[in-house]
Amino acid sequence: MPFPTPTPADKFTFGLWTVGWQARDPFGDATRPPLDPVESVHRLAELGAYGVTFHDDDLIPFGADADERAKQITRFKEALEATGMKVPMATTNTFTHPVFKDGAFTSNDRDIRRYAIRKIMRNLDLAAELGAETYVFWGGREGAEIDAAKNVGDALSRYKEGLDLLCQYVIDQGYGLRFAIEPKPNEPRGDILLPTIGHALAFINELEHSEMVGLNPEVGHEQMAGLNFVHGVAQALWHGKLFHIDLNGQHGPKFDQDLVFGHGDLLSAFFLVDLLESEGYDGPRHFDYKPMRTEDIDGVWASAAANMRTYILLREKAAAFRADPRVQAALEASRVDGTLVPTLAHGETYHDLVADVDATFDVEAAGARGYSYAQLDQLAVEHLLGTA
Ligand code: GCO
Ligand code: MN
Ligand code: MN
Repeated sequence: MPFPTPTPADKFTFGLWTVGWQARDPFGDATRPPLDPVESVHRLAELGAYGVTFHDDDLIPFGADADERAKQITRFKEALEATGMKVPMATTNTFTHPVFKDGAFTSNDRDIRRYAIRKIMRNLDLAAELGAETYVFWGGREGAEIDAAKNVGDALSRYKEGLDLLCQYVIDQGYGLRFAIEPKPNEPRGDILLPTIGHALAFINELEHSEMVGLNPEVGHEQMAGLNFVHGVAQALWHGKLFHIDLNGQHGPKFDQDLVFGHGDLLSAFFLVDLLESEGYDGPRHFDYKPMRTEDIDGVWASAAANMRTYILLREKAAAFRADPRVQAALEASRVDGTLVPTLAHGETYHDLVADVDATFDVEAAGARGYSYAQLDQLAVEHLLGTA
């Protein structure tokens, strides 16, 4: 297999906050110096990325005056122009400053909610100016530690109010932006509202402009909740709601690890890439990872490259898996295509179903038949191990 070299056609993107993470954690100081966003743009472009994404505060320090803001935006735009890098997505930091400690859209304090929405609107203007197509909402502080602290129903009404208002703003301004909600079960709040893909999908249905709101699911976030990420993404696709995706790695239910893509449940990462590629997902492959705290700056760039290499390798492995005649035979033996066929024939009703005589269906034989799923999974494992 040739050494995989990413190109912009792969649509790999990185948050400025990923490579730029200084590795401060609840127990320890930063282990790396700050990284200039301009340098990140150049380095990521050299590595073959398609673009970068950012929170307002990643680019423009919180509280910066108008001059400082203009200066940072100009420098960033120059870097984008020099490298050809795109900004397909942007988002707002509504979690770092102490004002957001009880949330933004759902803070119990009305003035804070109003402030948060103003902060978001301001960055929506910049996102639109930079040509972003997706605007992400990760509500890390929307939640609580104790059940008496939040009226969840009312908080969801305020969440809806905020998103409805922002949808209207985007429509009125004529911005070509769609919103993507990013679920997470916990961390930093003890419990976060819209904790999973399923919760978020149901919530989106209640929005005024639900057609312009979808999901930005993250590998590790569903896995923190013990859920199957591939199934979650498949369901989001089924609803037409996979607007964006955060790829990374996680070892099961524990704190949010944000490891390099594939550096967790590798088989799940394989089937995720298989799903995205076979379903024709054409959005950015966005890496939302944190270079481990033990990495120095060289390790930061090596780990950024590792995300892209892993994706390309998995894409090649998935294509080989699908093309393998043994896999095709195993899929047939497992009757995977069976769910393609509607349960009732065209024109049939439940009357026909009831009239179906049991004599034509041998319930014992059907119950005894195996599905050969282990053989199917083993073929995936052997493709991954390079022995197939
Ligand atoms: C996390 C989240 C965040 C968000 C990002 C966008 O790891 O908890 O993924 O990284 O994606 O901040 O707002
Ligand atoms: Mn995460
Ligand atoms: Mn994320």
